[in-house]
Amino acid sequence: MADLQATLDSIYSDILPRIGEGKVADYIPELAKVDPRQFGMAIVTVDGQVFRVGDADIAFSIQSISKVFTLTLALGKVGEGLWKRVGREPSGSAFNSIVQLEHESGIPRNPFINAGAIAVTDVVMAGHAPREAIGELLRFVRYLADDESITIDDKVARSETQTGYRNVALANFMRAYRNLDHPVDHVLGVYFHQCALAMSCEQLARAGLFLAARGSNPMTGHSVVSPKRARRINALMLTCGHYDGSGDFAYHVGLPGKSGVGGGIFAVAPGIASIAVWSPGLNKVGNSQLGAVALEMLAARTGWSVF
Ligand code: DON
Repeated sequence: MADLQATLDSIYSDILPRIGEGKVADYIPELAKVDPRQFGMAIVTVDGQVFRVGDADIAFSIQSISKVFTLTLALGKVGEGLWKRVGREPSGSAFNSIVQLEHESGIPRNPFINAGAIAVTDVVMAGHAPREAIGELLRFVRYLADDESITIDDKVARSETQTGYRNVALANFMRAYRNLDHPVDHVLGVYFHQCALAMSCEQLARAGLFLAARGSNPMTGHSVVSPKRARRINALMLTCGHYDGSGDFAYHVGLPGKSGVGGGIFAVAPGIASIAVWSPGLNKVGNSQLGAVALEMLAARTGWSVF
């Protein structure tokens, strides 16, 4: 692993001339204000080494990457029973699409598209007021990363609360099919706050290390999930983590990964390392343009593809 820093440095110098490519998410007004000319990357290996480059210490809005953490919590609460509420198949549609819900009885295709993630959040909320559920999620992410400084950006949460019309539609649709147990505004209140978690690449790579290390975080000693569950969460990230860009990401990068419209991508090299990259400009399907390019370079230069 000695030359991982050199690998990151070489990726950074190859990316720098392209910085600013892509388009920042503008359907959440607060995210539209983010400077696209930023790039950071962090790798945490299962033997506890940390490598960083660029803006790896700047906290950004993790958005849909949070869906990995709520999925982990929901599986912990209800186990395989979760799959009565949400499927495990790629959707082949945009992350915020509503079309399949009507034909498929309000059961979203997978836990990573917005509809699926909203259903997962509803499961996580069981027995909790919205404020408590948000607190539980924040504590969980701080525990995973072993970092009490992680916060939720209330401005981003508020911005999406004011403009998240699509999600309001998805949630109402599922509630009509009785696939949400809680009032729509409560579920979305929690969902918008989870998406507004602000984390740096390094914090994200630390928080997700358990997925690279058979369910336990070797840096904290915390056992988070069983090896079997870690493998399954990785399988879902590989097949569904980039929405209708999942096939392309598997083709080019070959690692389980989860993107967010804040421009972050979290990826797992099973048994080796967890990786987080951030660059706010997005490609046509809403995933970080340069983040995906950087991960393709990393996979090519390290041979970490799972294939
Ligand atoms: O619900 C939304 O639209 C956002 N809070 C999250 C979407 C997202 O990150 C999609 N990822 N690329």
